[in-house]
Amino acid sequence: MTNKPFIITTNEDNFGQIAAEVFIELLQSINKQKPFVTLPTGDTPVPFYHALREAKNIPAFIYLQLDEYAGLDRDDPRLFSAWLDRDILSPLDMPPQDRITFQSDAPDHQAEIARMQKLIQDKGPLDIAVLGLGTNGHIAFNEPNGFADDDIYVAPLTDETRRANAAYWQCPINNMPTHGYTLGIPLLKQAKHSVLLVKGQSKATILKRTLNETETREVPSTYLQDQQSVTIIVDEAAASQL
Ligand code: PGA
Repeated sequence: MTNKPFIITTNEDNFGQIAAEVFIELLQSINKQKPFVTLPTGDTPVPFYHALREAKNIPAFIYLQLDEYAGLDRDDPRLFSAWLDRDILSPLDMPPQDRITFQSDAPDHQAEIARMQKLIQDKGPLDIAVLGLGTNGHIAFNEPNGFADDDIYVAPLTDETRRANAAYWQCPINNMPTHGYTLGIPLLKQAKHSVLLVKGQSKATILKRTLNETETREVPSTYLQDQQSVTIIVDEAAASQL
């Protein structure tokens, strides 16, 4: 049987609210004390986190970090873990023991990957993977053509990704890390529910390719086409080529 993503198109103003409602409903539908969840960083989820901060009674969950720069100091404000902490995890009062995060400054990448694998080994597959979409089709730091088929690995970042990330911090691309830790597509494929957030005109072409091209390593996000439960929340600008 072929699965098809369920697409919800919304105007920009309601984007965050709809995403929050979908996420909370999914959390409530999972028969587990604390569902296992990964969440994205980036500009797209900002209104989603805003709406979650306003929402009441969000069920507790265990957070697994989706991706992180490799090689930044542990107090660098650009860390994705710091961004998520500011935007959503601290506002939700999530205790440290419910957060599984990468250590960007770990001296040994392989040891850090092994540490993360150990932390998640008895947690089972992700219950919910909330994801953003790069303009190049990346999901987390799974970059076009180059992504590895591992559950967790260190990925070289494309210039396009480094440029997009430098814009978050208004710093030159050369000041951005060249590598990042990421959950890999095999692990993300096991998620029971995936929610892809896509916003803005710059994502219109890649969203169309994500949905219409046969699964290809050139567009990593195409893996979502045939997942068992995928909800895509898209604003009108990003949906303009569908
Ligand atoms: P953005 O990033 O939300 O800032 O566009 C998405 C991504 O690169 O995954």
